[in-house]
Amino acid sequence: MCGIFAYLNYLTPKSRLEVLDLLVTGLKRLEYRGYDSTGVAIDSPDSKNIVMVKRTGKVKVLEDAIKEHFSGGEYSEPVMTHIGIAHTRWATHGVPCERNSHPHRSDEGNGFVVVHNGIITNYNDVKTFLAKRGYEFESDTDTEVFAKLVHHLWKTHPTYSFRELVEQAILQVEGAFAIAVKSKHFPGECVASRRSSPLLVAIKTKSRLATDHIPILYGKDTDSGKPQVLPRSDSTSEFMPEEKEVEYFFASDASAVIEHTNRVIYLEDDDVAAVRDGTLSIHRLKKSLDDPHAREITTLKMEIQQIMKGNYDYFMQKEIFEQPDSVVNTMRGRVRFDGNAIVLGGIKDYIPEIKRCRRLMLIGCGTSYHSAVATRQLLEELTELPVIVELASDFLDRNTPIFRDDVCFFISQSGETADTLMALRYCKQRGALIVGITNTVGSSICRESHCGVHINAGPEIGVASTKAYTSQFISLVMFALVMSEDRLSLQQRRLEILQALSNLADQIRKVLKLDSKVQELAKDLYQHKSLLIMGRGYNFATCLEGALKVKELTYMHSEGIMAGELKHGPLALVDDSMPVLMIVLRDPVYVKCMNALQQVTSRKGCPVIICEEGDEETKAFSSRHLEIPRTVDCLQGILTVIPMQLLSYHIAVLRGCDVDCPRNLAKSVTVE
Ligand code: F6R
Repeated sequence: MCGIFAYLNYLTPKSRLEVLDLLVTGLKRLEYRGYDSTGVAIDSPDSKNIVMVKRTGKVKVLEDAIKEHFSGGEYSEPVMTHIGIAHTRWATHGVPCERNSHPHRSDEGNGFVVVHNGIITNYNDVKTFLAKRGYEFESDTDTEVFAKLVHHLWKTHPTYSFRELVEQAILQVEGAFAIAVKSKHFPGECVASRRSSPLLVAIKTKSRLATDHIPILYGKDTDSGKPQVLPRSDSTSEFMPEEKEVEYFFASDASAVIEHTNRVIYLEDDDVAAVRDGTLSIHRLKKSLDDPHAREITTLKMEIQQIMKGNYDYFMQKEIFEQPDSVVNTMRGRVRFDGNAIVLGGIKDYIPEIKRCRRLMLIGCGTSYHSAVATRQLLEELTELPVIVELASDFLDRNTPIFRDDVCFFISQSGETADTLMALRYCKQRGALIVGITNTVGSSICRESHCGVHINAGPEIGVASTKAYTSQFISLVMFALVMSEDRLSLQQRRLEILQALSNLADQIRKVLKLDSKVQELAKDLYQHKSLLIMGRGYNFATCLEGALKVKELTYMHSEGIMAGELKHGPLALVDDSMPVLMIVLRDPVYVKCMNALQQVTSRKGCPVIICEEGDEETKAFSSRHLEIPRTVDCLQGILTVIPMQLLSYHIAVLRGCDVDCPRNLAKSVTVE
């Protein structure tokens, strides 16, 4: 999805070239979100105008264009205060091209320039309104109407402050957005806001900040005849350090700012953050009863190394190989293997309420949905509750009935997926208990849930989700174990699972050693058009997830097939040329899986088999197999999905695909 990065230096001299460098680096950190074009806006050398450069394609193309465009010495002069805004665009309205790239401008004089993430759903109405007043449009985007609307308001309300102009414009638009606005009429100021799309403000100062929150202000600047931004001397606003120098960053996510500062404020829906005279203030136009008085300044725990590729060729590859550690991080401080106890701090107070619920609903999209499919059976077994698994988009389409005694889990790596967030709000309105399972601290799903589990997998940069899946899986397993703590009849089963969890990291390391064997298999498969992946029981989710990985990374057709359904249709696809992969493990559905294997081989199919170490009987069915260590049935899915991740990765490399940024896809899908 689109990425926003803006940088404001106040009394901290920086040349425009240095600012551009910062902007480009910020965009590079957001590249993983998925995009098709880029752009930046900075002040002209005389500071009277705004200069923009936009390009279709990668940030590198923009970087080269910037080098060409800003070669003059005047751009190396330091400026005390300056604002630069930058953007990566993932096309929604209008094809990827320079004309549609952000920033978008209000008029030929570049009075206001805007970068935007999300969709303004009523942009056609606003466009018609503005067109009637003589505005001409130069792009196909929804964003351009916002820039022109601010301009129109500026013309009609000349006394309004910059912040008020943006606020008034926000009141007129519907949909989801995060925006950052720069103006030549308000030099040194930046205004940003969000509704349903993520945006944070990061603060960099030389000395430690004297406070951990920023009070929220209400009302209009012009009510009192003077702006309500917090003056430095105001005793209620201690958030500024003694010295005046300060730098601010506005970004779609923390990975773009972590190399500069770890102090961030996650904006809430309809917050308007404005910087004026180096002072940041956060405003809300309307006050509601449950509004907090302040926004917290959070200290990020993330390290810059976590978002660097290290010795790996791709982020996805790094993230696959991080799984022995990420699964341990998910369990760290929660699972006590010596006392066989599990504490999930984020939901422990809600466990009695959850135990009394009518049913558990697990809701997510894509890979996150698959983690729900993977753990449903265990949740049913250990909670003895009905467990319903839903795709967020379909759930919303159906207006699904939800009751006050439902417990709804929202599973999302990013915590920002629009469909999942909308489903969360739908269930919350109907009185259900909301549990968030996310990887991103401070994300919308995190904040809007009543309670939750942070999966602690560490930043996931590759668009294809890998380590987040295994950590979501383990988080849900831990939840099932907590729910069954006092069930005597389930103690033996719990011990077996806990024992398996303690061996998991070593077993994942063993599976990762299959890498070169998987790479050889990829050489057999990468020129084919299709790959069918079959399994059942605890491994059906691996089939779905494996097929999704193959599709998104390699652009090959792939299908995850429930082996029990084979004879009801998909068997017709099988012949001696159709690539098939089958998961056949020694678990309660082994015999049924063997039947499916026989059905495939007797149609001359020659499947690749994922089986248990040393299972000679199963291996005898094919010359191509991957052996994985034995574990308890309900955790097999963690070990079987890793060869699928590796296989899709190697096929993608062999097919020359962009592994970390597959075409047409975005990491965080913040539009419905
Ligand atoms: C696939 C993938 C997507 C996401 C889906 C939900 O590799 O990454 O299918 O799982 O877009 O995203 P989150 O988990 O951020 O809600």
